[in-house]
Amino acid sequence: MIVFNTTKALQSALQPLRAEGKTIGLVPTMGALHAGHASLVKRSVEENDCTVVSVFVNPTQFNDPTDLQNYPRTLEADCQLLESLHADFVFAPTVEEAYPEPDTRQFSYPPIDTVMEGARRPGHFNGVCQIVSKLFMWVQPTRAYFGEKDFQQIAVIRAMVSDQGFNLELRPCPIVREESGLALSSRNALLTEAERNTAVCISQALKTSVEYAKNHTVAETHDLVVGALNATAGLEVEYFEIVDGISLQPVASWEASDYIVGCITVYCGQRPVRLIDNIKYKG
Ligand code: PAF
Repeated sequence: MIVFNTTKALQSALQPLRAEGKTIGLVPTMGALHAGHASLVKRSVEENDCTVVSVFVNPTQFNDPTDLQNYPRTLEADCQLLESLHADFVFAPTVEEAYPEPDTRQFSYPPIDTVMEGARRPGHFNGVCQIVSKLFMWVQPTRAYFGEKDFQQIAVIRAMVSDQGFNLELRPCPIVREESGLALSSRNALLTEAERNTAVCISQALKTSVEYAKNHTVAETHDLVVGALNATAGLEVEYFEIVDGISLQPVASWEASDYIVGCITVYCGQRPVRLIDNIKYKG
């Protein structure tokens, strides 16, 4: 496994592989890798001749400077894990390397990027599109792998790929959960043991709601989840939206779409840590 810090070195290593017709898998990450990332890397290694994993905490997608500052950074441990997973290349640029000049490009895909996370984190998806489009240009992957925990992010990137005409396959991969049900996230590292136990309630409430939804309305199902979580000490729901899985627009009834997903963001604990999760009701 080779670690590159510059786009030039990375591109020099990839160019001959591409010329030989080898397939390239890209797994974009912000590091602090866990079993969720490992599942993406394993899939890329299985499906491609060469796997590139980027590790870069992208400043342009953080709208809260404290969040950016607190984001866990564990490059050495990340590289050890990636080596054990047989990743070929790690790309870990500095901010100056990734953004030699301020990126003034604007990516806008309403309504997909204006609801839920887009409404609460202004500029977040623009920043995601800035870095992901740069990675796509540098790596020119055959396939790119993203976790479904960031459900809306995948929808925005799908829109960006189509808008920018990137010739690649997007590979959404299922959420990986702890045995407790807690969705794996780099942000879990910021939780105390007690907060982690509290955070388990999020996936439990979502799971319970799937059964409940079978004989209750969308509004009742929504209220069940929000009520249960807001009644739990240490948790505060920022939003829970039950939406069409493609347009991300709220649905009023279970008949409104063949593909329905509940997307949630919850603040957990003292700091607090912002956790996201989602569950499929239909489709
Ligand atoms: O999902 C993430 O970790 C990030 O948003 C991504 C896709 C690596 C872009 O920085």
